[in-house]
Amino acid sequence: MGSKIYVALDTPDLGSALAIGARVRNHVGGLKLGLEFFVANGAAGVREVAGLGLPIFLDLKLHDIPNTVGSAIQALHQLAPAVLTIHTAGGRAMMEDAKAAAPPGTKVVGVTVLTSLDQGDLASIGVNGAPHDQVARLADLAAEAGLDGIVCSGEEVAAAHARWKHGFFVVPGVRPAGGDMGDQKRVITPRAAVDAGASILVIGRPITRAVDPDAAARAIAATL
Ligand code: C5P
Repeated sequence: MGSKIYVALDTPDLGSALAIGARVRNHVGGLKLGLEFFVANGAAGVREVAGLGLPIFLDLKLHDIPNTVGSAIQALHQLAPAVLTIHTAGGRAMMEDAKAAAPPGTKVVGVTVLTSLDQGDLASIGVNGAPHDQVARLADLAAEAGLDGIVCSGEEVAAAHARWKHGFFVVPGVRPAGGDMGDQKRVITPRAAVDAGASILVIGRPITRAVDPDAAARAIAATL
């Protein structure tokens, strides 16, 4: 299997995404493109980045009625991303339809509780209890609905893996030992995340903002 490192190309700019992607392509497992990139460049932009030859993680975090999410996924069939995200809060039927609509080789992965939400934020939208319990509830629902896995923090991945043995766990927010934390607060190292059960790691700025992104990617890969 290839490298577990997926580089987050968090930019709306096609030229920048292609430039960074080209620099790291030999030492990472895939490239993650998010909503900002997709809104700016559409499917044609995704195809250009895919032309670099690496698997694509399309991080669109889809959340709508089942028919709309299913149709949106049908519409991106030809892109055949390696990984695609949806929101588990869309409910079981939405997740089932999303998985049914996805190409067979696409891992459909669910976002549980956004890390930007704390207990107070959850209470204000009618979700009482600890965020941790909501994450566990939505992870179980994702497994029942037939999703491939979930996005989870380095803190959550060991527990998620214990509950869901064959799940595919995407862990963002990891930081190399001694690295700059940026705005990520709860971080673990790439190695610790893999040891705890991460299937792939999403790493952005420690690679994309490095003076030499390829060297940064290689240094992280060497720790795994
Ligand atoms: O630059 P950095 O490594 O922090 O980028 C992490 C990537 O993972 C970004 O694309 C960010 O949106 C995403 N992400 C995250 N934390 C989450 C979920 C996704 O940082 N809880």
